[in-house]
Amino acid sequence: MSKKYYIKTFGCQMNVYDSSRIADMLQNLGYEEAASPRQADLVIFNTCHNRKKAAEKVFSDLGRLYNIKQERLAEEGRDMIIGLAGCVVQAEDEQIAKRAPYVDFATGPLTYYRIPQLLEEIGRKKGVSLIDTDFPAIDKFDYLPDNQSHGGCSYLAIQEGCNNFCTYCVVPYTRGAEFSRPVEAVLAEAKRLVAGGTLEINLLGQNVNSYHGEDSAGKERNLAYLLRRLSEIDGLKRLRYTTSYPADVDDDLISCHRDLSKLMPYLHLPVQSGSDRILKAMNRRHNRDDYIRVIDKLKEANPAIGLSSDFIVGFPGESDADFQATLDLVNYVKYIQAFSFKYSRRPGTPAAVYENQIEEKVKKERLEILQNLLFSYQLRFNTESIGKTMPVLFDMKGRHKGQLIGRTPYMQNLHAELGKEYLNKIVPVKITGANTNSLSGIAEGI
Ligand code: 5AD
Ligand code: SF4
Repeated sequence: MSKKYYIKTFGCQMNVYDSSRIADMLQNLGYEEAASPRQADLVIFNTCHNRKKAAEKVFSDLGRLYNIKQERLAEEGRDMIIGLAGCVVQAEDEQIAKRAPYVDFATGPLTYYRIPQLLEEIGRKKGVSLIDTDFPAIDKFDYLPDNQSHGGCSYLAIQEGCNNFCTYCVVPYTRGAEFSRPVEAVLAEAKRLVAGGTLEINLLGQNVNSYHGEDSAGKERNLAYLLRRLSEIDGLKRLRYTTSYPADVDDDLISCHRDLSKLMPYLHLPVQSGSDRILKAMNRRHNRDDYIRVIDKLKEANPAIGLSSDFIVGFPGESDADFQATLDLVNYVKYIQAFSFKYSRRPGTPAAVYENQIEEKVKKERLEILQNLLFSYQLRFNTESIGKTMPVLFDMKGRHKGQLIGRTPYMQNLHAELGKEYLNKIVPVKITGANTNSLSGIAEGI
């Protein structure tokens, strides 16, 4: 009987991508995917350290997993290997040994390509916990097996790490310095994905638009160049990129939003705050006006573009006036989608030791006000979609039989009554219903 694996992913899209690469590696070793941790011989948690809640959840879920492991051993005599990957490992290696000593191996986001080797070592030395948190000087992508297409939409990591050091953020410490993959490696991976059935590629990077990978002649190329090359791939229908840093959006990239029909009219461009004072304290390289200038240029390049953002409320020192500036910015941009968070103190980051921390109660109130405003714009945009026909890429089965879930060009989730033969296909859909988080519609011409 072949061995089974189960991977649980926490956090960002980069982790989703890394988990799919880990799955490819395990499948190459003969593992099959298990439906639940209880049925798995190997369970890996791919973890997130961005906010305290996410990191704490890893430890509570690990405790539950350890109980399942013991049950499985007692009832079926089958053991389970528990592995950790991702940013918690990089940031909290000592805590893992203390709080979850039963973890068999742990590997950071830059070293997970060594998982096959770690599994072999575990086979040799039972009961030894292996924690691997190097920042290796090599390109992990060179050491991963070729990835496979897992459906109509695929992520493709083109850049990793960050040199920006926003004062609240752990990423520069967990994912290390910025690194861009070479152009040809990205194109080869994209072609492989498309040959395997991918219609939409979402280019990933913590700072995807500061991409500066080398081409085959050793010349550094920017994201705009890469997007143009990728859009030439036959069979590839849609392109996206995330997450962008506002100060690195240049005119060349903006022109892609005018010229490339495959580039979807949606951009996630996190601003974090609308207050210049707070942006400065966050060490962001843009102020409110810089950000608005970029948004205006993007809208000029493609008037149909919809914007999304991340926000942090209750950053140390945030006054009512600073918070109001954030609300004003939301009213100006009218985001069609957004993610907002209460500031969370992350050990080792500069802002964690700032003295003017904001009370939890105030953070909570501000988050609620901001989210209500953001949701109102999101609902307005979704409601205005009713009556329009949009191309929808269906990539998931719905909750009910005969239903599929997909995404519009604007990243709205949409469900429609549609047979599974339309899975991983783009279908024109007339929008008939909308709420804050999703749309419903009827497929046309079918
Ligand atoms: N507290 C709250 N939110 C944070 N983010 C990153 N670090 C923190 C933190 N310490 C948010 C930012 C970022 C998103 C991925 O997570 O808004 O854009
Ligand atoms: Fe974190 Fe700022 Fe880098 Fe984004 S740009 S990953 S928020 S340090």
